[in-house]
Amino acid sequence: MSEPLLQLLLANSDTYISGEEISRQLHISRTAVWKQINKLRSKGYEFDAIPRVGYRLKQKPERLELTALLSGLRSTVMGKQIKILDSTPSTQIVAQELAEQGAPEGTLVIAEEQTSGRGRMGRPFYSPSGKGIWMSLVLKPQTSLQFTPQLTLLAAVALCRSLQRVVPISIGIKWPNDLLVGTRKICGILLESSTEDERVRYAIAGIGISANLDVEDYPEYLKDIATSLKIESGAKVDRTAIITEFLAEFETLYQLYHEQGFAPIRILWEALSISLHRPITIHTLQGKVTGIAEELDDSGALWITDEFGEKRKIFSGDVEI
Ligand code: BTN
Repeated sequence: MSEPLLQLLLANSDTYISGEEISRQLHISRTAVWKQINKLRSKGYEFDAIPRVGYRLKQKPERLELTALLSGLRSTVMGKQIKILDSTPSTQIVAQELAEQGAPEGTLVIAEEQTSGRGRMGRPFYSPSGKGIWMSLVLKPQTSLQFTPQLTLLAAVALCRSLQRVVPISIGIKWPNDLLVGTRKICGILLESSTEDERVRYAIAGIGISANLDVEDYPEYLKDIATSLKIESGAKVDRTAIITEFLAEFETLYQLYHEQGFAPIRILWEALSISLHRPITIHTLQGKVTGIAEELDDSGALWITDEFGEKRKIFSGDVEI
């Protein structure tokens, strides 16, 4: 749709071109010009706009480059094969197809944009173009189905520790696996697995990081509950550095997990958790549970002492903040 406009602006990037001129050359209305400019803005293009003078393309969206990622890579298994897509319905689907075709552990699929990004509990996951890190990692863990929630907690720990190394802000984990700055969500994790009997054939760790979104990039329903690394730190973040740092940290913890089990991961998770040892309310499929979150157990479930003093084990749900 905005391709001809982009060509025109690129061809005139050293000068301003008026809305009237664009409308004349592309045979579209002034309103259509304005709408297309806004669409390009939402994809990460930046413009100088002067009233009664026109528009000038200032910056093209920064794109993730395979060579930059590979040269920054410090992990050996994670990210061994990387596929970068411009736009896809969901990187989970692509990673799953690759895993079915025998892709090795550590294969990573990244997309600049997801058109049907998916979140936990069948929810959609907002994944606009060029501003986030939407990626899926193929795993072949030596663990049985009942322990796969541990991998989600491991991914949350790796993500939290690696992000805090690259971006100087304080990030906490909300049970089970949302990363928050204050009360706003900055990352989400979705782990999906394929099993045979009780054995995990493969798992796909889907990770969504709101990296360089601006406040105006969020739809109304997310404005009060989501934020980005750029908004919180006040500066654009280096997506390549975040991905390579995450892969290195994930690889270290994944190896530790296979050598020593979940115990060390649990200690790290508890240290980063914002959900423990305080009154919380969890919305589960069975209803609302209010109480004090006491501890995480080996299955990844949260133990709560409810308002009647009863100990309850919660396997999944949404913690109210
Ligand atoms: C959640 O917060 O509910 C989980 C969000 C997981 C989003 C990531 S983005 C990359 C991967 N592809 C998807 O469709 N979902 C995950």
